Amino acid sequence: MSLLNNTEKKYNTVIIIDYGSQYSKLIARRIRECNVYSEIITPDESYSNLANKNIGGIILSGGPAGINEPGSPKIPNWLYKFDVPILGICYGLQAIIHDQGGSVSSSQHSEYGNSKIKIKNSKEKLFKGCDNNFNVWMSHGDSVTSMPEGYDLIASTDSCKYAAVKSGNIYGIQFHPEVVHTENGSKILDNFVKEICKIYPEWTSEHFITTTIEKIRKQVNDNKVLCAISGGVDSSVTAALINKSIESNLICLFVNNGLLRKNEHKDVVRKFKEANIDVQYVDATEQFISNLKNITDPEEKRKIIGNTFISVFESFTKKNDDIKFLAQGTLYPDVIESATNDSPNASKIKTHHNVGGLPEDMNFELVEPLRNLFKDEVRGIGRELGLPDFLVDRQPFPGPGLGIRIMGEITFPKLELLREADWILMDEIKKNNLYEDLWQSFAVLLNTQTVGVMGDHRTYEYTIAIRAVKSEDAMTADWAKLPYDLLDSISSRITNEVNGINRVVYDITSKPPGTIEWE
Ligand code: XMP
Repeated sequence: MSLLNNTEKKYNTVIIIDYGSQYSKLIARRIRECNVYSEIITPDESYSNLANKNIGGIILSGGPAGINEPGSPKIPNWLYKFDVPILGICYGLQAIIHDQGGSVSSSQHSEYGNSKIKIKNSKEKLFKGCDNNFNVWMSHGDSVTSMPEGYDLIASTDSCKYAAVKSGNIYGIQFHPEVVHTENGSKILDNFVKEICKIYPEWTSEHFITTTIEKIRKQVNDNKVLCAISGGVDSSVTAALINKSIESNLICLFVNNGLLRKNEHKDVVRKFKEANIDVQYVDATEQFISNLKNITDPEEKRKIIGNTFISVFESFTKKNDDIKFLAQGTLYPDVIESATNDSPNASKIKTHHNVGGLPEDMNFELVEPLRNLFKDEVRGIGRELGLPDFLVDRQPFPGPGLGIRIMGEITFPKLELLREADWILMDEIKKNNLYEDLWQSFAVLLNTQTVGVMGDHRTYEYTIAIRAVKSEDAMTADWAKLPYDLLDSISSRITNEVNGINRVVYDITSKPPGTIEWE
């Protein structure tokens, strides 16, 4: 049964104007957790690009600038044209207040961390279901010092008078409802989208699958689609969605680049067969490893691996020249990040090379059904589609595979050492039921040999570094506090069972300052 009438149901999207906050993506995720679709845009997005998006609400994020600083980002000139509810968060609040004629000043004391908020009116929709006093999380230097005409104060803290204000359906809050430290944070966002914007909560896996299948059918008609699969969750879910849409016209290709983990190629092909998806297998190991000969620079390795994938695809499609579409498992964070990386101020950390990068002179049209999804949403869709846990819950594995986990030159003997060590590490992690708790856990082969002693003999062998991290989306990561006993068994098994490794170290670097992969 519909909660709302059809007119309201039409407006199903919340857009988030990103002023550069580290939490913008988190706002988008929280809105989607309310089963409402959300998208992140920049303040300079044009009105014409947004006009057909069925926007039912607009959120302005926080950001590092001060609204009174010269050149600071202001509110877009189209903001009020949509005539939908607006919620400004932190800098977003200050931008609205500044625009409407109120004032914002640098506070004498910046406010970071928890503050107790007091609600002025318990009937206020934004705070429906919340107590009159609760903890909120603050992170600001500037504060609102006077409200524009027509605005009401709806909540304060001891040190921040204008902690929440409103005028009609325009709301502004100084605290961050998107972070877990704000009690009732999710409830406040849920109230905004459902009680104030009155958006029907239809963004569910089931709804996504039904509408995406329709879209794919419309896009590809009777044409053939090539889907390069890696065995990871993104390409598997992409393949499963396309398979459900146009079964007989899907061609899945699994390229063994020689940089996979122990038994991986056999496992992936078998699991796809079990899920009734036919996979064509190409073993291009020799081609990849010989192209990587003498290469030690990480970016060079990525470039070569990417180009070799392309040439393997090219030979494959020459033999199958009726393929018109190429399916890719691109996710929303990749889309947002590539937009951010276009900024001249963004520094390039590393080029992430995905399997299936499209060569410029190949005449494929792209099918990217996951372009608007976060990883956890993709896992939900995979489960709903009935994919096995082995595929859905897999930890991410980079496109260049073990190639960026061997420091220095990649050789067959080094690949063997790393495969064996990684296999043992994974076995121990799984035995201790930690696999799903960790974003990633893997072994890295270092390019140094060190002296050891085994029995009465001197050894001079390679070192393995263990990397295990917890993360929500790989943008930041914490090194995992694995139990000492577990580290002990991983270390003694690797040094005893892998001939050629005499030392194991544990990487205790978070991201930042490190990255998850070593290269
Ligand atoms: P970093 O090392 O940048 O990794 O902290 C973040 C996430 O991205 C994965 N990664 C890659 N994935 N091609 C990929 O498909 C790449 O070149 C690549 N480099 C890193 C990494 O495993 C982690 O999940």
